Amino acid sequence: MKILAIETSCDETAIAIVEFSGRKEKPTIKILTNLVSSQVKLHAKYGGVVPNIAKREHQKNLVPLLLQGMKEARIPSSKNGRKNEELQTGIEAILEREPELCGQILKKILPLKAPDIDAIAVTHGPGLAPALWVGINFAKSLAYTWNKPLIPVNHMEGHLYSAFLQNTGTKNNRLPITIPQFPALALLVSGGHTELVVMHGHGKYKIIGETLDDAAGEAFDKVARILGLGYPGGPEISRLAEKFPVSGNKLPVIKLPRPMLNSSDYNFSFSGLKTAALYLWQKIPRTPKTKIPVAKEFQNAVVEVLTEKTIRAAKEYKAKSILLGGGVAANQLLRITLAEKIKKERQKIDYRLPAANLTGDNALMISLAAFFAGKKKAPAKVGAEPNLKLS
Ligand code: KG4
Ligand code: ZN
Repeated sequence: MKILAIETSCDETAIAIVEFSGRKEKPTIKILTNLVSSQVKLHAKYGGVVPNIAKREHQKNLVPLLLQGMKEARIPSSKNGRKNEELQTGIEAILEREPELCGQILKKILPLKAPDIDAIAVTHGPGLAPALWVGINFAKSLAYTWNKPLIPVNHMEGHLYSAFLQNTGTKNNRLPITIPQFPALALLVSGGHTELVVMHGHGKYKIIGETLDDAAGEAFDKVARILGLGYPGGPEISRLAEKFPVSGNKLPVIKLPRPMLNSSDYNFSFSGLKTAALYLWQKIPRTPKTKIPVAKEFQNAVVEVLTEKTIRAAKEYKAKSILLGGGVAANQLLRITLAEKIKKERQKIDYRLPAANLTGDNALMISLAAFFAGKKKAPAKVGAEPNLKLS
């Protein structure tokens, strides 16, 4: 089964074409192409993602990225020379609100022969509505033009499935996928979400805890902004934290709270921690060097709360596996601390981390979720669901 996957929920335009073979319990995959075009530099000057810029960029990037992907995947893109007015009218109706994308499809995609793929998967939420709609309407127009089924995918389900692939191998290699044992507990930490999810099987989820305010990645971004660091803030904060300890300087002793560490539920709250970091930063001498202990202590606080609650939940729900996913899963301290705490438990828990190039948004993870848990849906019934939840 060959899946073309499309991801545009935030500020990355991503396309993957992935071939799955073998039984669903023991499949192998061949990654034919996995492309991400990041808009992060464009949004950086605003300190966060601007939805309409994201929409504009997705419109601009999707067709060139798909053509590049088809070339990499060696999917023949010979022209069939057809000039099909009926198809053209249909495409124009689907892409009524994305005229630039529509023009590119009519010019560059419509004249091509339908490629050898079995389904088109697309992220339909959660995410930014204008960004999601571009990907969805693009997927719908391809499904219509090529007569292929459409599989809508939950973005967080994609992050969860990214932990099934701990490396992406070399290009065009066949990789075996070992399915983790269920129940699995997933800690999903991204710019928009922070969730603890019990997974009882493919497509069977229960959210047992989530953030009551800011997501972990969002808190990293906001504290980075307070400290005058770049966007996205996560990598900036960890880079700075690594410089600790700074020698030869009297650094202020810094202690930040661990919000909800001891609450009886599995929810999180990072907004108070961000405010505590702000007040602290306003009180101490503000120099490039004093940023270092603040970054370090902030990162320690986030990682401590995330990992403690994950371990506690894993025990209560008797998880056989722990999966980590989402942009914040790139954080080295988080990856290592969770590994150490799992080891300390001395229970046999299979710890799954996504490959380093799969922590951020990508379309490969969307193809994985589509293959294992996806369901075809009539295109007319697929729309952007900005607040979609795993269930
Ligand atoms: O999953 P993702 O790429 O996009 C969303 O779905 O939101 O996550 C992006 C988030 C950003 O907030 C970014 O600051 C954070 O992931 N992030 C990190 C690191 N790398 C990215 N947070 C902490 N440490 C990192 N190394
Ligand atoms: Zn994401």
